[in-house]
Amino acid sequence: KRIVIFASGSGSNAENIISFFREKPEVAVAAVLTNKQTATVLDRCERLNVPAFYFNNTAFRDSDAVVHLLQGLNIDLIVLAGFLWKIPSNLIEAFPDKIINIHPALLPKYGGKGMYGDRVHQAVKENKESETGITIHYVNENYDEGAIIFQAKTDVVPSDDASSIAQKVHLLEYEHFPKVIEKLLS
Ligand code: GRF
Repeated sequence: KRIVIFASGSGSNAENIISFFREKPEVAVAAVLTNKQTATVLDRCERLNVPAFYFNNTAFRDSDAVVHLLQGLNIDLIVLAGFLWKIPSNLIEAFPDKIINIHPALLPKYGGKGMYGDRVHQAVKENKESETGITIHYVNENYDEGAIIFQAKTDVVPSDDASSIAQKVHLLEYEHFPKVIEKLLS
C-alpha cells in the first residue's frame, strides 16, 4: 500500500509515520506534499530520503495538478498531518474516503477554521477542560467535520499551559497515528 503525507509545518508527525513504516514493507510513504516552501518538513524529507513536493494555491485549488500527481503515484491513502488548507472538492472526489486528518483536540469541540496548534490548547486551558486529546477523522469539504475514526484522551490539570498540553497531545499523536493508518490499510 502507498500513502502520501500532507504537512504545512514542522512535520514531526510526518517523520514519525515515515519512521514507523520504514521497517514495514507492506506500507510505503511514497511522498510528502507541502504548501509551504520553508516548511521544516522538507528538511526532514531530505534527511529521510523521502520525495517531497511543494505546491502553491493555484496548483492546489485552481488546477488538477495535485490530483494528477497523486494519481500518478498510485496512492491508497492521503494523510494530513499538520496541513492547514481546506481540501478542494476535486481532490475529495478523486480520493473518496481516502483522505484522513489528525486534529489535536477531541472533535467536535475545538475544531474548525483557524483552530490549530497552540490556539487549540489555549482554548482548552481557558475553558478549564479536565481532558483533551486527538481526533483522527475522514476529510470532507469542511474543516474538521468528517466521520471520526479514532480518538485518544489525556488529562489537563490546572498547572498545564498551552505548551504542556501540546506536549501531551503530541505524545498521543506519535503513539496512535501510525497504528490507525496501518489498521485502515490492512
Ligand atoms: C499536530 O498537532 C497535528 O495534530 C495538527 O498539527 C500539528 C502538526 O504538527 N494537525 P507536526 O507538523 O506534525 O509537528
